Amino acid sequence: MAPHTEQLTRPAVRLRGLTRSFGGRTVLDGIDLDIPAGQFVALLGHSGSGKSTLLRAVAGLDHEVVGSGQLTAPDRVSVVFQDARLLPWRRVLDNVLLGTDGEEKGREALEEVGLKGRERAWPSELSGGEAQRAALARSLVREPELLLADEPFGALDALTRIRMHALLRQLWKRHQPSVLLVTHDVDEAVVLADRVLVLEHGRIGLDLTIERERSREEYRVRLLAALGVTAEVG
Ligand SMILES: Nc1ncnc2c1ncn2[C@@H]1O[C@H](COP(=O)(O)OP(=O)(O)OP(=O)(O)O)[C@@H](O)[C@H]1O
Ligand SMILES: [Mg+2]
Repeated sequence: MAPHTEQLTRPAVRLRGLTRSFGGRTVLDGIDLDIPAGQFVALLGHSGSGKSTLLRAVAGLDHEVVGSGQLTAPDRVSVVFQDARLLPWRRVLDNVLLGTDGEEKGREALEEVGLKGRERAWPSELSGGEAQRAALARSLVREPELLLADEPFGALDALTRIRMHALLRQLWKRHQPSVLLVTHDVDEAVVLADRVLVLEHGRIGLDLTIERERSREEYRVRLLAALGVTAEVG
């Protein structure tokens, strides 16, 4: 079920004048952003534009970084990275449960991501795609109000990536967290998200609402242009 309209009016994430700098160089330059509860947002931008810096700030993982501004985020936040970051000395189910209790929930989450029967496997026995699914299960168990994902499918082959897209969209529909997905892949952004942001010069340069009934190609061309890529349409 799609998130209810009333839910969409309650912002889950609110940023005002968010700045972050490294060694005197400003990477985020006064970002204002509201993400309504339940919205699926993709964040695009060139390498080095500050996508991960923004995600880490929202995740509260950047205490050592110089910055200012206001930031509000939900209490229950889960983060998924490009590598699954499973602990090699713990079996899959134990990785999923890490720091939580409720084995049954862990089993259910593994079933949801298609890993039923692999509870006792070691991380080294999983493929890249399976490991990422385990990482998704680990984030689900925490019932996040906000799911932050930094290029979670970046290391996967094209076919696995398409399957993961379908899985993520399905999990999002079922659990309805807000999502902030960092990606460098315009197609991934347009396929998955309801809103796509482009980060440039430390600010949100483009904020595009994706209407499902419209042609994806139109959005694709606009986003590529915003990223400085002229697409050959022919
Ligand atoms: N811990 C750090 N110390 C110094 N500079 C940093 C640090 N983290 C990020 N930076 C710099 O901030 C800028 C933005 O980095 P960030 O990782 O946010 O980019 P990104 O958009 O995620 O890039 P990519 O697409 O390559 O992952 C880069 O120039 C990077 O070198
Ligand atoms: Mg990054």
